[in-house]
Amino acid sequence: MSISDSVAPQAPTKERVIANYLPASVTPVADSTDTLFAPSNIALCKYWGKRDAVLNLPVNSSLSISLAHLGSKTRISVSDEDQVWLNGVRLAAGDKFARKVIAFIDLFRRGADHRVRVETENNIPTAAGLASSASGFAALMLAVDRFYGLSLEPQMLSAFARMGSGSASRSLYEGFVEWQMGIREDGMDSFALPLDTRWPQLRIGLVKVSTGEKAVDSRSGMNRTVETSHLYQSWPLQAAADLERLHQAIAEQDFTRLGETSEQNALSMHATMIASWPPLLYWQPDSVAAMQTIWQARAEGVDVYFTMDAGPNLKLLFTADAEAEVKQRFPGLEVIRPFG
Ligand code: DP6
Repeated sequence: MSISDSVAPQAPTKERVIANYLPASVTPVADSTDTLFAPSNIALCKYWGKRDAVLNLPVNSSLSISLAHLGSKTRISVSDEDQVWLNGVRLAAGDKFARKVIAFIDLFRRGADHRVRVETENNIPTAAGLASSASGFAALMLAVDRFYGLSLEPQMLSAFARMGSGSASRSLYEGFVEWQMGIREDGMDSFALPLDTRWPQLRIGLVKVSTGEKAVDSRSGMNRTVETSHLYQSWPLQAAADLERLHQAIAEQDFTRLGETSEQNALSMHATMIASWPPLLYWQPDSVAAMQTIWQARAEGVDVYFTMDAGPNLKLLFTADAEAEVKQRFPGLEVIRPFG
């Protein structure tokens, strides 16, 4: 048999992978689900770069902390036509977010003869670097599971949510969460798991520099970095070392180590972006001003650090005993207690 006669193995697609774990066909088990909530999450060791862009399989494992009550609530109902509502507003069928939501439903519906109405509410600024796609796809996955009565295992919910958006794999849980990169071609070992350590004194502060839509979304930014940044080759090693340090910091409740590692990880990720072409700089002058305020605070003995995603906003990390000092430097700061 010549090479041209041989049948190439089919590459895994989302449809094929998901179909392996579902019944032959699905039907809604009720007219409407109740409202399912998933928290937003902030990565302390970032997911940056994919080994498989179709399945959202990452180059490195990552570790995040969920944002308690901040996140997305989603409900799915049977309807005459497919429709997507975001924060009480019906989106046009051609809207980018609406198309993504319906495409995700289609992965499970697989041509079945019913239409859906999906209602989502975010209590975080959408697309401002505050990870609403993570909580959005996690809540949608929970609602899909309920709508079709699938009762999938948590690890499968996480792996399937990942196909909507990588960081959504981590939004299925509260507290500290690790997304293990996995090595399988179909990605079914690439899911998140919660860490059982709590850290009640930990605080996260949201410094909102801008809540507008960003010009380059994280997906495009990530791809551009992997394709063009000469600094990207050092990223997987850095991420692996940081993950190890974060595990230690969490186990020992060593806040300085947690803060230093998270800040350096975020800045390393941004360094890879800045070195891509065309250059990718999400920072605005106010982002840099906030960084300088943090560095000055540290020079004055306040233990505060920051992390940033693909956007201009900063997320501050500190503990309860530094809260008053941090608020003094960032008036009006929204403070979250990830462990309640
Ligand atoms: C910088 O999960 O939004 O926030 O998988 O393409 O949907 P897609 O990307 P997404 O990327 C998040 C990137 C990040 C870092 C992180 O959350 O780990």
